[in-house]
Amino acid sequence: MKRWFKYAKPYWIYFLLCPVFILVEVVGEVIMPRLLAQLINSANAGTLTNGESIGVMLKMMLTALFMMAGGVFGAYTGTKASVNFGADIRSDVFSKVQSFSFANVDKFSTGSLVTRLTNDIMRVQNFTGMVIRMALRAPGMMIAALIMAISIRPSLSAVFLVSVPLLMLCISLITRTAFPRFGIMQEKVDGLNSTVQENVTNVRVVKSFVREKFSIGQFHEANGDLKQAGLSAMRVIIWMGPVMTFFMNGTIIAVILIGGPIVLKGGMEVGDLSAFVTYVTQILMSLMMINFILMMSSRAIASGRRIIEVLDEKPDISDEDAACKDRTVEEGSVEFRNVSFRYYKGSEEKVLNDISLTIPAGATVGIIGSTGSGKTTLVSMIPRLYDCDEGEVLVDGVNVKDYSLFNLREGVGMVLQNNLLFSGSVADNLRWGDEEASDEELRAAASAAQADGFVTGFAEGYETKIEQGGTNVSGGQKQRLCIARALLKKPKILILDDSTSAVDTATEAKIREAFANELRDSTKIIIAQRIGSVMEADMIVVMNEGKITGTGTHSQLLETNEEYREIWESQSGMRKGA
Ligand SMILES: Nc1ncnc2c1ncn2[C@@H]1O[C@H](COP(=O)(O)OP(=O)(O)OP(=O)(O)O)[C@@H](O)[C@H]1O
Ligand SMILES: [Mg+2]
Repeated sequence: MKRWFKYAKPYWIYFLLCPVFILVEVVGEVIMPRLLAQLINSANAGTLTNGESIGVMLKMMLTALFMMAGGVFGAYTGTKASVNFGADIRSDVFSKVQSFSFANVDKFSTGSLVTRLTNDIMRVQNFTGMVIRMALRAPGMMIAALIMAISIRPSLSAVFLVSVPLLMLCISLITRTAFPRFGIMQEKVDGLNSTVQENVTNVRVVKSFVREKFSIGQFHEANGDLKQAGLSAMRVIIWMGPVMTFFMNGTIIAVILIGGPIVLKGGMEVGDLSAFVTYVTQILMSLMMINFILMMSSRAIASGRRIIEVLDEKPDISDEDAACKDRTVEEGSVEFRNVSFRYYKGSEEKVLNDISLTIPAGATVGIIGSTGSGKTTLVSMIPRLYDCDEGEVLVDGVNVKDYSLFNLREGVGMVLQNNLLFSGSVADNLRWGDEEASDEELRAAASAAQADGFVTGFAEGYETKIEQGGTNVSGGQKQRLCIARALLKKPKILILDDSTSAVDTATEAKIREAFANELRDSTKIIIAQRIGSVMEADMIVVMNEGKITGTGTHSQLLETNEEYREIWESQSGMRKGA
């Protein structure tokens, strides 16, 4: 509760004013039947004068004006409160997600984070809006109408002693049955969301594998599930309205049956009876409203919990305890000391198993190994995308955990294996590397990455718009833009994870040459599938099943490492064959 209070606090004035305005409306609603009763009574008795009728009319109009003002300002302040409240939570949750490490994101899954950021926050926001508008209004209306009814005729009010408990019983039976069904429906909505998200985001893959039918099938299943769950909840909830009307009419009939004879005997005025009937509707309606709020509250609480889970998640990589926060990466040497790591902490197999490796500053190091051998995992430890479980990783002789994350990642440029461009122009994307880069610097980086040629070939050059995910450039072009983006950071350590796999060998050689000339001082770690991409490196590391099986230059490894020789032979054989 304290958590939510924090978000409401800046808008306390709206949270406070809204119920006050709404109460004005309520007071009006309860006074109205009274005024009307006065008119009817006088007319019925034949004592209605022009003066009285104008007086009452004026009072009624004034009340109506007050009610309207209360209603408008109530709605305005209520919306202002809940929308701001929701927006602030949303930005906090979003910032929180940005602070997550890869492992945190893995834990929640991207789809679930999106649902929490959108649906769940929306539900809490709407519920908050409803509560501030209704929490006082419904009970207030009920109590006020009850007081008015009793003041008209206490004995007639006895009908409520029967109808209210009966109605409560029916409503709670209905909601109690419906509620779990709404819970199931919510799960199905989540299911549908993830199916839609996965299939729409990856529509290209769906098409290329001609899996549309399967996709549609999957969607139909999720959609059908949701439909069933919705129908099952509706089957119960549709009783709510009719039951309500039944009780309302029943009570009104009872009131007229009992009150009619009293009026006829002259014990009560006809206007009072009609006012009483209005109070019956107001009381029963408020009851239903209260019940509805209670019902919605459990759904909102469930959503609230899902939001709190995100807010409470501790980013498992942080620099709070960093010993030298001001230190920046100066040289670019890297050392792994007995590093072990597993993604699933309970699993037996280690993804990295007791790795020790020293990379001197300025060296060019190639990493070769079969797929799944742990190459990507190994280099992820350098910019702390993941933290090792055992051992330590040092940059410039300092544990990576002792740098601030900002300084560490400023010093380490990494081109990820599955890299993405964002929507925006080519220049915008490149400036991710350095926001302040001049146009000349952009071009220089792009030239080094062999991207300048094709970018200037685009009609709009560096202003060409990139679609979300970089779908309007070719695979090799995307890779070269990603390299240029990393180069702009002028990193002391540059890591390329299979980043030239889609680039032809001649272009790749030019990129390597540019690296050698322009990034002379930077340490370059290049993961590659083709030995040709790394054979000129100062050192090549061969990995297999989470272990380093050999290090050395190309010629050394050819002599000492059987696995390396086999890869070399198969690849050079392929080339000869081709
Ligand atoms: N985010 C992750 N969560 C769980 N397991 C993972 C994750 N990423 C990788 N793995 C597992 O860790 C092992 C090593 O993966 P890694 O990506 O480091 O291999 P790699 O050598 O880079 O392979 P490739 O050449 O195919 O890129 C694999 O068995 C993989 O299934
Ligand atoms: Mg990899």
